[in-house]
Amino acid sequence: MSKPALEFLEQDEPASIAPRVVDLRSDTVTRPTPAMRRAMAEAEVGDDVYGEDPTANRLEAAAARIFEREAALFVPTGTMGNQIAIKVHTRPGQEIICEERAHILDWEMAMPALFSGCLIRTLRGEDGILTWSDIKNKIPSYSYARAQTGLIEVENTHNMAGGTITPPEVTNEICEQAHERGIPVHLDGARIFNAAVALGRSVAEVAGKVDSVMFCLSKGLGAPVGSMLVGSRKFIDQARSVRKALGGGMRQAGILAAAGLIALEDMPSRLAEDHGNAKWLASAVSRIPGVKISPEKVRTNIVIFDITTTKMDSAAFLQRLRDKNVIASGVSQSLVRLVTHFDVSREDCEQAVEAIRTVCA
Ligand SMILES: Cc1ncc(COP(=O)(O)O)c(C=O)c1O
Repeated sequence: MSKPALEFLEQDEPASIAPRVVDLRSDTVTRPTPAMRRAMAEAEVGDDVYGEDPTANRLEAAAARIFEREAALFVPTGTMGNQIAIKVHTRPGQEIICEERAHILDWEMAMPALFSGCLIRTLRGEDGILTWSDIKNKIPSYSYARAQTGLIEVENTHNMAGGTITPPEVTNEICEQAHERGIPVHLDGARIFNAAVALGRSVAEVAGKVDSVMFCLSKGLGAPVGSMLVGSRKFIDQARSVRKALGGGMRQAGILAAAGLIALEDMPSRLAEDHGNAKWLASAVSRIPGVKISPEKVRTNIVIFDITTTKMDSAAFLQRLRDKNVIASGVSQSLVRLVTHFDVSREDCEQAVEAIRTVCA
């Protein structure tokens, strides 16, 4: 009797060795660690819409404690967290001041307008960092004929500016001045743990006096799903209601929160390794002819470089890179982004640099 084809292949053909693909598109591509998977399988759960999921409750309590705030809320995504915060802080017809490359503006589907009825008022911060002296000129004096500022939003680290860090002193000055005028401040801290590790300060210090923080468990911290909102008890109570309105009330959420707890408690300490790899990448890439980057500006896990002089646009550049088993992403026609994370080793970075060198040659 002849063998089934599959069995034949398994026994007689040399196994094909798939080349390693280095995925530097984002720190969102990480897969949960074995400890996370075990915790998810064993999580104690209940119905979180009734407030009865013990693991989700533990995660929320841990986040509030770590950020030294009254309360926290588990949300499915960073986008939902930011948009809930905007909804709670603002009224329709108001303006939100943010940096011109902010995630809430470019990557959240016009939701400030669609969901909260607010207009975004942008300004450019050097390296994505907003200061009070920039912001104050964008706040209109009171007039019955002008939309008023309902919210100031800062992003730390700033994704599209290359993982740059706003120092807590700068954030606190914004908060003090904004609060004097009755304006709340929301922090998109998707990668606030990266900022804290790079500064050698706590996330509570980095968040400073902001009224609310969103941070992601599913980026450098490696959880498969989830972000958190942190703030006062009153803010979180309102946020819980808006989360429900958006369909973000999850039932046995503890399955996800279990991985989130490991992300929150065990993973921040390893972010320094990602920063080391990013700095190494930036420095190696800076020596490749045709590429422009200021490696000294790379302080966390995001590396953005300019390829204008290669005469390729980023789409062509990225395709050639992909052919060499390295995946990155484009920020614009001329800017390429590499993000280091848990699933990227120094050897992977070396492979990436060799591929970039070949593509540029
Ligand atoms: C700065 C920043 N804010 C918010 C988000 C949104 O997170 P999510 O993808 O979980 O919606 C991201 C995602 O990349 C981000 O980089």
